[in-house]
Amino acid sequence: MVYFKPGSTRYFVKASFVLFVLFCGISAVKADDGYRLWLRYDKVPSADKYRDRIQSIAVHGKSATFDAIRRELSVGCAGLLGTSIVVGDRDDASVIVGTPQTSNFIRKLGWVIELQRIEPGGYRIRTVRDGNRSVIVIASATDVGTLYGTFHFLRLLQTEQPLARLHLDQSPRLSFRILNHWDNLDGSIERGYAGKSLWNWSELPAHIDPRLTDYARANASIGINGSVLNNVNANAQILTAEYLEKVAAIANVFRPYGIRVYLSARFSAPIELGKLPTADPLDRAVIEWWKAKADEIYKLIPDFGGFVVKANSEGQPGPRTYSRTHADGANMLAAALEPHLGLVIWRAFVYDMKPGYDRAGAAYENLHPFDGKFARNVLLQVKNGPIDFQPREPFHPLFGGMPQTQVIPELQITQEYLGFSNHFVFLATMWREFFDSDTYADGRGSTVAKEVSDKYLSGISGVANTGSDRNWTGHHMLQANWYAFGRLAWNPDTSSEQIATEWTRMTLTHDPKAVATIVRMMLGSHEAVVNYMTPLGLHHLFWGGHHYGPAPWWDTEKRDDWNPVYYHKADAFGIGFDRTKTGSNTVSQYHPPVRRQFEDLQRCPEKFLLWFHHVSWDHKMKSGRTLWDEMALHYQEGVDWVRSTRATWADLRGVIDDERYTAVSDKLVIQERDAVWWRDACLLYFQTFAKRPLPAGVEKPAHALADYKAKALDY
Ligand code: GCU
Repeated sequence: MVYFKPGSTRYFVKASFVLFVLFCGISAVKADDGYRLWLRYDKVPSADKYRDRIQSIAVHGKSATFDAIRRELSVGCAGLLGTSIVVGDRDDASVIVGTPQTSNFIRKLGWVIELQRIEPGGYRIRTVRDGNRSVIVIASATDVGTLYGTFHFLRLLQTEQPLARLHLDQSPRLSFRILNHWDNLDGSIERGYAGKSLWNWSELPAHIDPRLTDYARANASIGINGSVLNNVNANAQILTAEYLEKVAAIANVFRPYGIRVYLSARFSAPIELGKLPTADPLDRAVIEWWKAKADEIYKLIPDFGGFVVKANSEGQPGPRTYSRTHADGANMLAAALEPHLGLVIWRAFVYDMKPGYDRAGAAYENLHPFDGKFARNVLLQVKNGPIDFQPREPFHPLFGGMPQTQVIPELQITQEYLGFSNHFVFLATMWREFFDSDTYADGRGSTVAKEVSDKYLSGISGVANTGSDRNWTGHHMLQANWYAFGRLAWNPDTSSEQIATEWTRMTLTHDPKAVATIVRMMLGSHEAVVNYMTPLGLHHLFWGGHHYGPAPWWDTEKRDDWNPVYYHKADAFGIGFDRTKTGSNTVSQYHPPVRRQFEDLQRCPEKFLLWFHHVSWDHKMKSGRTLWDEMALHYQEGVDWVRSTRATWADLRGVIDDERYTAVSDKLVIQERDAVWWRDACLLYFQTFAKRPLPAGVEKPAHALADYKAKALDY
């Protein structure tokens, strides 16, 4: 028996493999702690059927990625089929995996040109005839595409799809599919609710946590191909030689899985690290400093993705500190990265408080003038809505508003404004609404999905909800949002129902009745949270310090636009932010058909009513009720949903393993408490203006308004 010395590479390889096997769940008897995410390879009910079809697998190819493919297939198929499967390289195998370069069998199928035409990362899965037998072929022009095809194949097994006539060509609609980690170098995570950072900086590069491989597998399984390791509120230290070595060690783990690392770059790093007197993007020494830094990074990490930059936003340094423009700043960094094919991802989350301004219009005002002025390797990263990841926002007018700029969406997977990791909210439906919004940029049908995928370089970012918690996301059900982000990044037209169904079958259960029940819960969850937090277009009613519970009365922050009263504007007449001509007129940032709909009180979708209009308490809603009654009933509906969901979940006892069943039940108790709190705090406060009774069907609050004001909701 050979014992590998701890610290040696072989030791880590061995330790990683042992953990990998555990992760893949060869032992199915253990209670499920959620660590395996959706890559749960327990025996499926159709295992017997599949066993006849999959007797052996051939993987043709030699690279670290092909090694990963081999491991995944052997562990995955063994688990799902309940028997070990030979993974070799014989052409008479029942499943053949490879590229035309690595596999004679695939080359002979005559697919070379077609595979090359599929977008990078795309793949083909087909059942083909070979003499008198049928073979399943997983093929791609690239190793990573083959890995994606492998994960797709395993998903087919996990979700019990028929294999007899497979005929799939898949390719990603968006090229750069990136997770943004708001992780600090001290291990904390800004707006993170699932433990500490996954990157253990103090132990890197000597010790590599095997969990990093599992993180990479999970991402690759849904096509995520980039990871920004550090917070957008960046610490320049990450760019020091010491940290770059640690970053390189992480990049080495991710590489076989097709994931590039990116870093958030602090714009003033030339001052902090380079000891230069300025970070002016037009200063020669500054330009040289960034070039040298880029060269240094690419020497260590040849496939480094690039920089993400939060500039001149919420106190961060940027080009405007030196009276230069956003384009000056972004293009200077772009020039440093361009020789290495690196990207600059410039964030549009810029809002400078000016007297009388509307924060919802600020990013557009700041960035729109630079349409067509950014270098080719600059992507402009824009949050889905114009304010800040609220439970519901209309789409940001920069989508469809900058035709000559590579605009990429930024979604927030972590639930900063959606109950942290305590509330169960399936975000695919919210993102669907965003992707389906018609910008009218090129006439009807210019949906956000189409606008963002039609660019020369396309991409998407999601602020991760992962952390060191054993179940990764703090709440078992919220793993679905990580999964949904990846699936939508791959194809932003995927339906929420498809995503929810796949995820549930892979992660929770194969029981058809239970699957239907859980999918129904998932699909209703976002609307419910909007109802009990911010119905009818209300936004930013959160307690200032932590963005968890309600504080619509809050008015003590030093900036107006950090106070809820700025957003709801409740008064004796009514409630809502007038963004039409009689108000801030930021509705004019949308293309005319959208603008006309939003600015018309009668045509504005009620879900956005108070986003765009200041409306009388007695305004007649489509239901025939007054605004006040309607609002109160929405709050109640949100609470009712949580209560009925608790009952529905209780029926799943015994279908879902005890560990996860109980954990989710416990979270639903908190969610009900919070929903009630939201309803009561908001209605009592708004009632001080509306001076109307609660309508029939809305429960009386248990406490007085003063009690809610005195105490923030715990989390
Ligand atoms: C929000 C969030 C901050 C974050 C910022 C950003 O304001 O509360 O924590 O830094 O968004 O996206 O830059």
